[in-house]
Amino acid sequence: MTAQRACGVNDVAVSSAVKVELDGIAVAIVKDSAGAIHAIGDTCTHGEISLSEGFVEGDAIECWAHGSQFALATGKPMNLPAYEPVPVFEVTIDGDDVLVDVQNPLTQQ
Ligand code: FES
Repeated sequence: MTAQRACGVNDVAVSSAVKVELDGIAVAIVKDSAGAIHAIGDTCTHGEISLSEGFVEGDAIECWAHGSQFALATGKPMNLPAYEPVPVFEVTIDGDDVLVDVQNPLTQQ
């Protein structure tokens, strides 16, 4: 595992997301409505839109452009027009730090 610091736990509000770049990969750090933190590929698979600029609803994030929602646990789109998943990365909470391993995605595109 090659986890690296992505941001602080408190840098992300509940039901919101921040964009970070790790090893040249755009990653959305998302805090779901229950307060759990997820890391997924930030770029919508339907277009070059940053998912962190979208809306977090429950355990999914919605692309603001055309409304596809992606499950935070799996990266899979839940509705069209996107039909390909975004990668999901392992998150480790170390004190106040959010660590993410972008080299070994839990799910592949
Ligand atoms: S660019 Fe995200 S749904 Fe179209």
